[in-house]
Amino acid sequence: MKKPIARWIDAALLRDFEAEKTDAHRLATMQDGWVERFGRDILVSFRTPEARERLTLELHLWAAAVAFDCGRIFTRFLPRKNEERGQPQLLFGDAAENLQTTAMERQLKFEIDFAAGYSVGLFVDQRENRAYLRKLTPKRVLNCFAYTCSFGVAAATAGATTINVDLSRKALARGRANFALNTLTTNVHQFIADDVLKVLPRLARRGEKFDAIILDPPTFAHRGPGKMFRVERDFEQLLLMALEVAARDGHILLATNCSELGRQALEVLARYCLKTAGRAAKFVHLPALPDFPHGAGASSLWLSLR
Ligand SMILES: C[S@@+](CC[C@H](N)C(=O)[O-])C[C@H]1O[C@@H](n2cnc3c(N)ncnc32)[C@H](O)[C@@H]1O
Repeated sequence: MKKPIARWIDAALLRDFEAEKTDAHRLATMQDGWVERFGRDILVSFRTPEARERLTLELHLWAAAVAFDCGRIFTRFLPRKNEERGQPQLLFGDAAENLQTTAMERQLKFEIDFAAGYSVGLFVDQRENRAYLRKLTPKRVLNCFAYTCSFGVAAATAGATTINVDLSRKALARGRANFALNTLTTNVHQFIADDVLKVLPRLARRGEKFDAIILDPPTFAHRGPGKMFRVERDFEQLLLMALEVAARDGHILLATNCSELGRQALEVLARYCLKTAGRAAKFVHLPALPDFPHGAGASSLWLSLR
């Protein structure tokens, strides 16, 4: 049987990242796992013990070949069920050191916390979407499912005022810390700890309009007692609600990690919702990320409304 291959980024790409002041990115991807870098710290995510072993062994060989100075190494199991998600475990490094660090993406700083649970604070596969949002220089941004507000920070550094919505108060507190880390005052920004599906109709009733709306929901999540969000079922409703608050020439990002919702499926969903809402939009697909092999990472689609 053929051994699965892990694809590692090369020295030239590593230099490109360093030149653009990015130290949060993928290092390697294979069928059952991947390796990411956050500053000097490394996170090895794996579905099988074989993948963990192979990736940690190859990490040392890769680091020596490209002269990369590894800090700590953490490992994290990727379970099938959300309930089985656990915190990354320290494999190599000083256990007495603080588990927080800072990572950089095109000069923006983000807090990384290896003790905060399954996700450490930044989804590196959204890098180009954050950069695109900055380039749009929107005035008002609605960042739904904001998590640690990385999109809010990106927009705010480009001059936007933002509303960041997430069910988790803890995530929003980390979001505020990310604003502070980038010397952005938070008094013109809002952080709303509530259900996006409740907030969107409220904003619509108030007649609010946004130049950019970020829709990057989880695949599934609890919304409250007996209520679930399932992206395959609910993305349509979510986009229809977002279209109600999108400015005439606004932009909407649709992003998902759900493997059933690839690029084509997002286009079909967008076409249906645009028709239902009586709106028109150009579809914008950003170039593939150089550190992600084809098919790895989130699927996304920008709608440029007309
Ligand atoms: C995939 S993460 C979003 C990642 C984020 N867009 C980023 O790039 O950093 C999902 C987030 O959605 C939040 N969430 C889940 N269901 C929600 C809901 N119904 N309303 C608001 N937030 C929700 C979770 O608390 C979590 O922080």
